[in-house]
Amino acid sequence: MMEQSMKHTLHKQAQQWVLEAGQLIKEKMDEPLEIMTKSSPKDLVTKMDKAVESFFLDKIRENYPSHKVLGEEGIGEAVSETKGTVWIIDPIDGTMNFVHQKSNFAISIGIIHDGIAEIGVIYNVMEDTLYHAKRGEGAFKGDFQLPKLAEKTLDQSIIELNHFWLCPNRRVNEEKLQQLVYRAMGTRAYGSAALELAFLAEGITDAYLTFSLQPWDYAGGFVILQEVGGKLTDATGEPVDFLNKTTVVAANSSIHEELIKDYIELK
Ligand code: IPD
Ligand code: CA
Ligand code: CA
Repeated sequence: MMEQSMKHTLHKQAQQWVLEAGQLIKEKMDEPLEIMTKSSPKDLVTKMDKAVESFFLDKIRENYPSHKVLGEEGIGEAVSETKGTVWIIDPIDGTMNFVHQKSNFAISIGIIHDGIAEIGVIYNVMEDTLYHAKRGEGAFKGDFQLPKLAEKTLDQSIIELNHFWLCPNRRVNEEKLQQLVYRAMGTRAYGSAALELAFLAEGITDAYLTFSLQPWDYAGGFVILQEVGGKLTDATGEPVDFLNKTTVVAANSSIHEELIKDYIELK
């Protein structure tokens, strides 16, 4: 378990650096973006994603040389186990929004110690909203403590789901998800996994389903959601491992099991 004073220090530190990184992004927002693609033409990365990840890597190496860093852009070392302290960082989550909308993106940080997610920080940069949590000590939006999630039924629920999963795909039965769309009160797709988890923790949505997500997309949101009584597992209900790509069902605990049992059939 992470020592209490260390947890307190890292929680403060992560928030301070996230705000500084957000400021860097805002200052350069109007400069031309250097956009590149990664695995596909839809998988975007900019010079800013890399600069923000390097910013964190330099700070962590200077201040906490024994800590490991798992970042989306792979600038740190390869991380193959969650022993010790690991910072899991998405420098810009929602790069497509960043490029096309100049809003609706976030910086996400999860800090894991000996396999346990201890700290989560998600910064909605353009809204200047900071979600943060320490394990066992509640989740906050700025200074406001987020209340525990109220019970919901599926009919009362707003489900965050990328429309892609409603099309024929190789991972999940789209017809069952279509039934879920009929059943739920509504659906939303914000284009930033970190923000979708933050909104879920805030109780303004009730579930987030996705069938391919990386640790840096969910590590920050994990603790924040857990602290309001929500649940994040893979699509079979098993715990996520913070190291590998996975399916994710994150939800208000009152609908989590029903979602998996009645609406998710993996291929
Ligand atoms: C992406 C966003 C998006 C999710 C993708 C992620 P990126 O992250 O979180 O909402 O659907 O699976 O890869 O590439 O913008 O950091
Ligand atoms: Ca991401
Ligand atoms: Ca990213």
